[in-house]
Amino acid sequence: MLSSMSDQTLPANNAVRLVALDANDDDAVDAVVSFVNRHYPSELPLARAGIKHGHYRFFWAQNAANDVVGATAYVPRTRFLAESVKTVVDPRHRQQGLGAAISRAIEAEVRAAGFSKIMSTILITNIPMIIIKLRQGYLVEGIHMDHEKPGLHEYSLGKVFR
Ligand SMILES: CC(C)(COP(=O)(O)OP(=O)(O)OC[C@H]1O[C@@H](n2cnc3c(N)ncnc32)[C@H](O)[C@@H]1OP(=O)(O)O)[C@@H](O)C(=O)NCCC(=O)NCCS
Repeated sequence: MLSSMSDQTLPANNAVRLVALDANDDDAVDAVVSFVNRHYPSELPLARAGIKHGHYRFFWAQNAANDVVGATAYVPRTRFLAESVKTVVDPRHRQQGLGAAISRAIEAEVRAAGFSKIMSTILITNIPMIIIKLRQGYLVEGIHMDHEKPGLHEYSLGKVFR
């Protein structure tokens, strides 16, 4: 079952609501893995085991009409730091501000869960996501060459909640 976690107060045309995924619901886990891997052809695809074992906290992103328009997740790194990962917008809904809205929404989730910092690693070629994070006050904190896999170069962007 899905349960509502947060409402973002945003303009009607790009409002999103994050709905927490139940990691014990096998069908829901399969659905989010399929959605993420279909719409985000990463060299490091999402594996269902990461959700089942509680590594990721996953959310569907729904628009004002309750249609699923994307997905996102975070991973607790310490008591204080959470890493947001796998923010994906359905290609039919891109470039309408939803990626930015989902980024704001996962930040709100991380804040509400009591963390004091959020960070993300982003491929240096992923200009849309880098733009989104910089506009939302994240700072580039480093560059990781050959990071998660040889040939994959990523910026680390972080935001301390003050
Ligand atoms: C990255 C992603 C989430 C952005 O979603 P989106 O809904 O298109 O993003 P937004 O509409 O909020 O766009 C944010 C900004 O980036 C710009 N942008 C979006 N796509 C772009 C593109 N392909 N090229 C250049 N700029 C782009 C937008 O124009 C917007 O800037 P603007 O406000 O000046 O117009 C989406 O492209 C996606 O799902 N990609 C695949 C998964 C992925 O790479 N996730 C990030 C992993 S770290």
